[in-house]
Amino acid sequence: MKILVVGGGGREHAIIWKLNQSPSVKEIYCAPGNVGIGEIAKNVGISSNNIEKLVEFSREIGIDLTIVGPEEPLVRGIVDKFRQNGLRIIGPTKHAAQLEGSKIFAKEFMKKYDIPTARYDIANTFEEASKIIGNSSYPVVIKADGLAAGKGAFICENKEEALNMAKELLEKKILGESGENIVVEEFLYGTETSILCFIDGNTIIPMESSQDYKRAFDEDKGEMTGGMGTYSPNYVYTEEVAKQARAKILQPTLTGIQKEKMDYRGIIYVGLMITEEGPKVLEYNVRFGDPETQVLSPRLKTDLIEIFDRIEERKLKDINIDWSEEGTVCVILASEGYPGDYEKGFEIKGLEDIPKDLLVFHSGTAEDNGKIVTNGGRVLGMVGKGKTIEEAREKVYRNIDKISFEGAFYRRDIGIK
Ligand code: AMP
Ligand code: GLY
Repeated sequence: MKILVVGGGGREHAIIWKLNQSPSVKEIYCAPGNVGIGEIAKNVGISSNNIEKLVEFSREIGIDLTIVGPEEPLVRGIVDKFRQNGLRIIGPTKHAAQLEGSKIFAKEFMKKYDIPTARYDIANTFEEASKIIGNSSYPVVIKADGLAAGKGAFICENKEEALNMAKELLEKKILGESGENIVVEEFLYGTETSILCFIDGNTIIPMESSQDYKRAFDEDKGEMTGGMGTYSPNYVYTEEVAKQARAKILQPTLTGIQKEKMDYRGIIYVGLMITEEGPKVLEYNVRFGDPETQVLSPRLKTDLIEIFDRIEERKLKDINIDWSEEGTVCVILASEGYPGDYEKGFEIKGLEDIPKDLLVFHSGTAEDNGKIVTNGGRVLGMVGKGKTIEEAREKVYRNIDKISFEGAFYRRDIGIK
C-alpha cells in the first residue's frame, strides 16, 4: 500500500514510525513532513492545508489511504474532498469535525446527549459576556469558539481578568474570527486524562490512557502550550473511572454521532477532567493528540494499517486491539519563548548520542546546509519505554541533556506521580 500522512510534527512522526512496521505498507509519503520524518518516509512539499494539491498528488501517485494529523484540514473538509475524488481517507467529515472546530457546537452536542461536561454559557457580544461574567464564580474559563492551535482557552482568576479577556476576544478580536463567539464555563478541578479512541460510526474503541502537560513550566506554571510532555497509562484512569467514562461519555458520544448522522471514521480524542464527581469532558479533538500519540504508538501491538482499514470499512468491531503493558514517557524539548515568540534555525546537536532504546520524534526541525536545525516552538520529543512509568521516565531524563540547541528547555516533572 501507498500511504499519505498529512502533517509534519511529532504526532505524524510517531504515526509513520508505527506504520513503517506494517508488512502491507510499501511507501509512505508525508506532507509536509520534517527532517526526522524524512528519514523514514518521503517528504512532499505540500502544506497540510492545501487540500486541492493533496488530492491532486494522491491521484497522481495512486495513494491507497490517507491519514490526517492536524485539525485544520479536517475542519476545512479534507475528508469530504478526498472521498468526492474517490480517495480513501481516515477522519471525520467537515460536519463531524465541528466537534473540535467549534466549542459551541461541541458543548451543544454534549448537552443534547447528556454527556458530563462543565456548565457553560455562550456569548456573542461583550455585553452578553459581561452579564454572564457578573454571575460567575472564580476561576472561570473563557474559550474562543473556533480553532486556536491550543491557545484558545483562558483561565481567569477574577472578574476583572474575565472581563478583560472577553473584551480582547469579542471586541479587539485578538484571535480573529475564532474568538467572535465565546464560551464562558465553570472551572473543573481534578486531573486531566486524554482518551483517544478509534471510531467507525458503529463502534468506538478507546486506546490506552495518557496525560498531557499543557503548561510551559514545571508544576503547571506558565502559559498554556500545545503540550510539553505525556506519559501512558494515566495514573488516575483506574478501571473504575474507565468504566464510568465508557458508560457516561464514550457510548453517548457514539450515539450522538449516529443520531446526528455524522460520517465519522477516524480518531476521536476525548479530553477528560477526572473530578470528584467522576470524569467530565473538557473538549473533543477529532484527531490524534500531540504529544499523546508519541506515548501511545510505541505501546500499540496491533498493526495500525489493519486498524485503519477496518475503520474505513466500518468493521472496527472485527479487530482486537492489543497494547503492551509497559509505561511510556515523552518529554518535549522546546524553543526558548514558546508558546510565545521564539527564534528558529539553531543547530541541534547530540542526536546521534541517544541510545537505541529511546525514540526521538521530530516536531519542528528543518535542514540547513546539511545540519539539523530548530524550526518550531516544540522541536523534539524524547520517548522512553519501561516496565513501569518510573523506569521510562528515568531513561528519558538520564539522556535528554545529550541533545542541545540554543535556548532549549523542557519540563522536569513529566510522569511524576
Ligand atoms: P481546551 O482547548 O478546551 O482543551 O482547553 C485547553 C486546556 O485548558 C485544557 O486542556 C485544560 O488544561 C484547561 N481547561 C479547559 N477547560 C477547563 C475547565 N472547564 N476547567 C479547568 N481547566 C480547563
Ligand atoms: N495534546 C493536546 C492536543 O493534541 O490537542
